[in-house]
Amino acid sequence: MKKNKISKNWLIKQKKDSFFIQSKIYGYRSRSAFKLIEMNKKFKFLKKNSSLLDLGSSPGGWSQVARKEIIKGKILALDIKFMEKIGNVDFIQGDFSEKEIYKKIFSYFNNKIDVVLSDMAANTTGSKMIDSYRTGELCLNAMKLAKEILNPDGVFLSKIFMGSVYEEINEKAKKYFKKIVKYKPLSSKKESKEIYIFCKGILKI
Ligand SMILES: C[S@@+](CC[C@H](N)C(=O)[O-])C[C@H]1O[C@@H](n2cnc3c(N)ncnc32)[C@H](O)[C@@H]1O
Repeated sequence: MKKNKISKNWLIKQKKDSFFIQSKIYGYRSRSAFKLIEMNKKFKFLKKNSSLLDLGSSPGGWSQVARKEIIKGKILALDIKFMEKIGNVDFIQGDFSEKEIYKKIFSYFNNKIDVVLSDMAANTTGSKMIDSYRTGELCLNAMKLAKEILNPDGVFLSKIFMGSVYEEINEKAKKYFKKIVKYKPLSSKKESKEIYIFCKGILKI
């Protein structure tokens, strides 16, 4: 199928998608916002004083949801792509795995934090295997960062794709965290291999 036709079909599907429609009604920048709303209903981890890092934040749906729930805590959003300003959310543009950006994150909070979110996804290549591998690598690196920056009872919530790195992510998560739950929100498209891993409480090694 030609690229134009694929994007036209994608647009038609999107317009029929109830979460896409709701995101427009409620003023969310992405339909992904509903995934975080749903996961917070289930796990109840966004508290009014939480400090939170949102990795892969653009266009900003998750940061909007976090800001609604977190009234006093600091929120830092980060993405390679630019993100339009959200009130009381600070933003760093850059690749989170670069040393300089890593340092900026730590000096921004200057303390341990409560929540690390990662909805990061690597750019699609056309190969589902490569995409799931690269997104899995992002999750593994985000998990490493989370382990360093989180409070002892902190929460790490990340997108993963069922695929080659899945087992490795599972094993690492078991080493790092006390509680691990895998969850697919209703708002995550059925045809997508995406699921989320919710981890809570750092294990002392
Ligand atoms: C699915 S989108 C996130 C949607 C967002 N949660 C929302 O609700 O609007 C995935 C994002 O991950 C970002 N990303 C991918 N690799 C990254 C990296 N190494 N560092 C920072 N952001 C990255 C992409 O630029 C993209 O904007």
